[in-house]
Amino acid sequence: MNQAAIHKTLAGKPGRKPTPGKLKDLFEMRRAANFTLIQDLFFSLYPEARYAASFQNLQKLLSSQYKNRPAALKLQDIERQGEGNWYQSGAWTGMQLYVDRFCGDLKKLKEKLPYFEALGINFLHLMPITKRPSGPNDGGYAVNSYTEIDPTYGTEEDFIELTKAMREKGICLMLDFVVNHTSDEFPWALEAKSGNLKYQEFYYTFPDRNMPDLFEAHLPEVFPETSPGNFTYSTEMERWVMTVFNTYQWDLNYTNPVVFLSMLENLLELSNKGVDVIRFDALAFLWKKIGTVSQNLPEAHQLVSLFRLCLQVVAPGVIILAEAIVAPEEIVAYFGKGILKGNECEIAYNATFMACLWNSVATKKTNLLRRSLRGLPPKPDASTWINYIRCHDDIGLGFDDSHISALGWDPQTHRRFLLDYFCQRLDWSPAKGAVFMYNPFTGDGRITGSTASLLGLEQAIEEKDVLKITSSVNKILMMYGIILAAPGIPLIYAGDELGMLNDYSYMAEADKVMDSRWINRPLHDWETVSGLGTVENHASRIYFGLQHLIALRKELPALADARSVTYHDAGNDHLLVFERDGETENGVLILANFDENPQVVRTSLLSALGYMDKGQFQNLIDGKKQKVRSGLLELSPAELLWLPKC
Ligand code: GLC
Repeated sequence: MNQAAIHKTLAGKPGRKPTPGKLKDLFEMRRAANFTLIQDLFFSLYPEARYAASFQNLQKLLSSQYKNRPAALKLQDIERQGEGNWYQSGAWTGMQLYVDRFCGDLKKLKEKLPYFEALGINFLHLMPITKRPSGPNDGGYAVNSYTEIDPTYGTEEDFIELTKAMREKGICLMLDFVVNHTSDEFPWALEAKSGNLKYQEFYYTFPDRNMPDLFEAHLPEVFPETSPGNFTYSTEMERWVMTVFNTYQWDLNYTNPVVFLSMLENLLELSNKGVDVIRFDALAFLWKKIGTVSQNLPEAHQLVSLFRLCLQVVAPGVIILAEAIVAPEEIVAYFGKGILKGNECEIAYNATFMACLWNSVATKKTNLLRRSLRGLPPKPDASTWINYIRCHDDIGLGFDDSHISALGWDPQTHRRFLLDYFCQRLDWSPAKGAVFMYNPFTGDGRITGSTASLLGLEQAIEEKDVLKITSSVNKILMMYGIILAAPGIPLIYAGDELGMLNDYSYMAEADKVMDSRWINRPLHDWETVSGLGTVENHASRIYFGLQHLIALRKELPALADARSVTYHDAGNDHLLVFERDGETENGVLILANFDENPQVVRTSLLSALGYMDKGQFQNLIDGKKQKVRSGLLELSPAELLWLPKC
């Protein structure tokens, strides 16, 4: 039993509205239940002999932040606990967006809530909205404050109003917590620059290159093109500072307990503003050690768990998403292992699934996808995935090399092929993507571009080729139809619901031109939205297709994450065939054809699994029943089927 399960048992069945006294008792019980683990984790990172007083400060912080937590949120916490693992319900469908690019500001976003409701979206990831430098700021991932709303987005009041309205409508809110670094304009960084030694110890700062060189010997580069190396010389401070991401993002020094406590305070304050899910940004990088790549270190996991267990004491209804775009088995580790199992993050991005889906698009085969998903270590029962196709970042090709080799491909050549396929280096490829952070020394690169452009819509529109447009629309719906049926929360990237293409305007902006991820951060196309349903075009087909799939998903209990998933071998590598909740009569079988040609599957497989009877099956997506006369069921290119048990 993990700590969350213990807290649920303590909270009991949801009954009468708990009194403030009862709520306080529950807080004390949670504190007691987590105490030993918190203490153990804290002193293993910060030895007791030196840091006993810091631990007292941690205890005080939990009490004061609990006191500050608004009453409505305290009640919601208890309701959430009564709902079990609420985030595993099949009812959630998410959307990720930049508020400014979507509609301007938080006030306008509140007015747009009906847009989400109409599509069936009830989970929003708002990209950073707190204060950031006015120059380059990595889309807000360089933070000047963890809690103060940036005036471009509105006021504190606008934010609180938005969260209230979202709660009333049952829309869940996810915000970022940029836990690894601050901007170089953050108050701590400004103090450090002015020579304040206390704050210089908040970061990894060094007077000369000795230590940086020792670190560099093993550190990879995250942004090799725009920000080579992992250290930046600050002329104001006259010291080197560790900057793993951009030069203006200073890595926090978590070997200093004051940094942990200050960041915990920021986390709790943010949670107390009415956030449901906190996205722990770049959490794999939290602990640095000379002689290592300084990613996914055991201490990083201990830190995440420490944050988790403290947050749980104050706000048990708030959960954490791991933004760990790392090797497949390293991602699963963020759900917690050993004694930390279930005590780290409840959700993680299913980056393996995402990257393998794109691999299937390029190769037209699903062998790597099936192999990789089957090869993933099982995740703890109480955890879930965010399933996505595109997000604001690049598509990294982080497959397990052994799987690529086992399929007879050379890993390096295969990655090269994928870059070529998606980034306009092959004449026959319909994809219009761009390379992100090509490293000429290693030959590594990542891919960026919008879903629609990567799936051929941009080229098809340019060529005014109706058949190609249809093919691309089908591919978009197939890709989303897969993640809408997979175990986890599907997250749609805003604009994908309209088939929005690459946005090249970033090339004219000095702050952005070097970062090709901006190609997929377009201004939302409200003109197209206003034409939905009145104009018969690709946007309408995608929008209404998605709307229908989302609604269908909500009606199918088999698609909730607590239900099983089995990836079947269909005897045809072009097809992805997986089953949800197959042991029960609610079972759903999902079939998708990644090839450009029709492909077949034996009907005997469908009959044996219980999805076909006397040659007849039903497709839930169009509701139609079909009879198959031969022993083979044919799927047209990019066709997607969701079949119910017979
Ligand atoms: C995460 C964000 C990415 C950002 C980086 C540094 O990976 O998703 O956009 O550049 O962290 O904060």
